[in-house]
Amino acid sequence: MKTRIEQLPKAELHIHIEGALEPELMFKLAQRNHKKLPFDSVEAAKQAYEFKDLKSFLDIYYQGANVLWREEDFYDLTWHYLQKAKKQNICHTEIFFDPQTHTNRGIPFEVIITGISEALKVARERLNISSHLILCFLRDLTIESAFETLKTATKYGDKIIAFGLDSAEKNNPPSKFKEVFDKVRAEGFLTVAHAGEEGTSDYIWQAINLLKVSRIDHGVRCIDDPNLVKFLADKQIPLTVCPLSNVKLKVFNSLGEHNLKTLLNQGLCITINSDDPAYFGGYLNENFIAITEALNLTKAELKKLVNNSFQASFLSQQEKENLFIQ
Ligand code: ADE
Ligand code: ZN
Repeated sequence: MKTRIEQLPKAELHIHIEGALEPELMFKLAQRNHKKLPFDSVEAAKQAYEFKDLKSFLDIYYQGANVLWREEDFYDLTWHYLQKAKKQNICHTEIFFDPQTHTNRGIPFEVIITGISEALKVARERLNISSHLILCFLRDLTIESAFETLKTATKYGDKIIAFGLDSAEKNNPPSKFKEVFDKVRAEGFLTVAHAGEEGTSDYIWQAINLLKVSRIDHGVRCIDDPNLVKFLADKQIPLTVCPLSNVKLKVFNSLGEHNLKTLLNQGLCITINSDDPAYFGGYLNENFIAITEALNLTKAELKKLVNNSFQASFLSQQEKENLFIQ
């Protein structure tokens, strides 16, 4: 029997498509593309998924992404996630992709975006899942590389709703990317940014004030600055929080110590998300179930989290109204 939370329709707003690469598919693609993996088997890969921080995870995550070469690889990866999303009653998803991870290996941008977009189109038609695509700049690369990526991406602008910022946060503040985000917004795109996952609350202020983001990805370190918590609540700037990820990457020692219930009850627009489900031991429902148990979330809190997922999305007001649960 499915639990209430499994049955409820919901939106996911923080999922890296490269982070949905299950080891089984990774091995299949490695074989198809004649690439060697640093693991001997699916089991060995799973056992290597123990991380001490964000950087140690990213090293493995980028190695995994090296098996993606052709349009059909990006299609298969995306389609695999969307089928899983259907089973989890995700009716709307906003997916991050990291093109620089692939263009830096010589893969044309068109191959990446066409493979992903084609799967999203089929999911709209066959699975009734709506979606938006968010391009993330890698913050450990240069602003010049981000500008170059933006230039190429603009040709496919109709497929992209927003630009974000991900990868190694420490020592790569949002301020480093101010000018490229100015251009992103001038071209009519929305903005989001990972901030306050491992970085300080000041990185969250920078994302708001300099990058003018509509949402903060993670953002849990806002708790260190009461003025920021108040600001996020007053302005209803959403946080896309990823509980299982936060424990896997040692942002919190355990789910029981997670601060999302505290932030929710201080009036912040908190949403639950999976981040990199193939690496962190669970998709969206597993995140909901685990955090509900660990923090004793009430029915009313769960309802709020689900409605926040629609409210914080980039859907139109009418589309949101059609999705809110009573
Ligand atoms: N890329 C994929 N997952 C990420 C995370 N949790 N933080 C920053 N960059 C990422
Ligand atoms: Zn993320």
